[in-house]
Amino acid sequence: MIQLLWKNATAEVVGNQHGISQADLEAVHDPLVAAHRAVLDQVESGRLGYAKLPTRGDYARQVKELAARYKDNTTDLVVLGIGGSALGSLALQSALNPSTYNLLSDAKRGGPRLFVLDNVDPALVADVINLLGRRLRTTLVNVISKGGETAETASQLMIFRELMRKRLGDGFAGRIVATTDLVKGALHDIAKADGYPMLEVPSDVGGRFSVLSPVGLFSAAMCGIDIDQLLAGAAAMKQRTEIHHWHQNPAAVLAMVLFLAATAKAKPLHVMMPYSNRLYLLADWYRQLWAESLGKRVNRQGREVFVGATPIKALGATDQHSQVQLYREGPNDKVVIFLEATKHPQEVRVPDVFADAPGLSYLRRAKLSKLLAAEKQATEYALAVSQRPSLTVRFEQIVPFTVGEFIYLWEFAASLMGELWGINAYDQPAVELGKQATFALMGREGYDDVAKEMKGVLRQDKNYVV
Ligand code: PA5
Repeated sequence: MIQLLWKNATAEVVGNQHGISQADLEAVHDPLVAAHRAVLDQVESGRLGYAKLPTRGDYARQVKELAARYKDNTTDLVVLGIGGSALGSLALQSALNPSTYNLLSDAKRGGPRLFVLDNVDPALVADVINLLGRRLRTTLVNVISKGGETAETASQLMIFRELMRKRLGDGFAGRIVATTDLVKGALHDIAKADGYPMLEVPSDVGGRFSVLSPVGLFSAAMCGIDIDQLLAGAAAMKQRTEIHHWHQNPAAVLAMVLFLAATAKAKPLHVMMPYSNRLYLLADWYRQLWAESLGKRVNRQGREVFVGATPIKALGATDQHSQVQLYREGPNDKVVIFLEATKHPQEVRVPDVFADAPGLSYLRRAKLSKLLAAEKQATEYALAVSQRPSLTVRFEQIVPFTVGEFIYLWEFAASLMGELWGINAYDQPAVELGKQATFALMGREGYDDVAKEMKGVLRQDKNYVV
């Protein structure tokens, strides 16, 4: 189970100016209750697509069937996708498998190596292609795109499809799985024409809310992650998000603290700082969820509001030696969200050596988990005495169940934040212009006007080049 600890975000610890006081709680009570009611209405009426995922047994079944078909004959799984079509896979893999997973022997891995290509950096793509070499024959490509025309993913599919067609001949189609809309879209049409097995991206679930759909589940199942436990954790958290007493509801408390931080307390920078390398990529996943869901120009009535909180990631204890100076003494515009694990997947004990170095004696025979926990508490303390608010998400263990809980917790909290701000948390209109501009620069038909408009802005001026 995961728990939320929020005392260090209160006025009692960091003072009235920076922490949440009784008056703040009273002021936010009615809007929070209304926001919770509104989100629950959407859940209960089936309008909130992601809320259905924890109990979609059909998706879990399809994913497990397809994984069973491929697991034993696949050495390498290459996921092609970007944004919401990649970050969930990356986060699950890094949280629930060893960091050395790809380097382990076949027997120890128990699944294919995993490469998630979430960029079109030619060096990245070429490195993976070169590494695969002759193993391309036993590679499975999982191309994930809801819309199907995302330039990054489409270009990668074109590259891998051609490589595999040349290497495997007609059999290539059986080595590509398409995860996409099952009714329409460019990827849907290609998959049908080529004959790839397909998995669904539900039409009512946006990319950043899709990790518990086949988008995130397939690569997880292929790599030996227990997706039933992942979904069970999400379902358990879903029940907790339905609790009406907000102070017993972790999603409501999380949204309340972070909404007040961003508004009444003038702390729009929300730093997620896991004290666990395994949990670090969950912070990447959170960054997209928070940024795309909450960073909005207009509210639901179309009035300009320019709201949002800037999600930042840091790693404990590593970034104590990089960021904490700023977090303690720089502008008091941040709230730090620590992630910690009571029990880590592995333990290491410092050996009983250097007996003649008194300054290091406290480390002798110490467990690294104890040192890491002490470092986290030390940072929490150091922030608190500088009137810097923080809260902690505590994982009892880092296992599929708790990761599922974590995912649903943050998705529901994003929905509540959206309601509190009165914005649409499920669209991303500002991403569109960048996509159109890329099409224009790449010479896509129908984008000449965009290309013309861009010229003035992009033209360089030698007065500004040094
Ligand atoms: O959250 C989102 O909607 C985006 O990040 C998308 O996932 C991303 O742009 C990729 O889109 P698609 O899955 O359509 O290729």
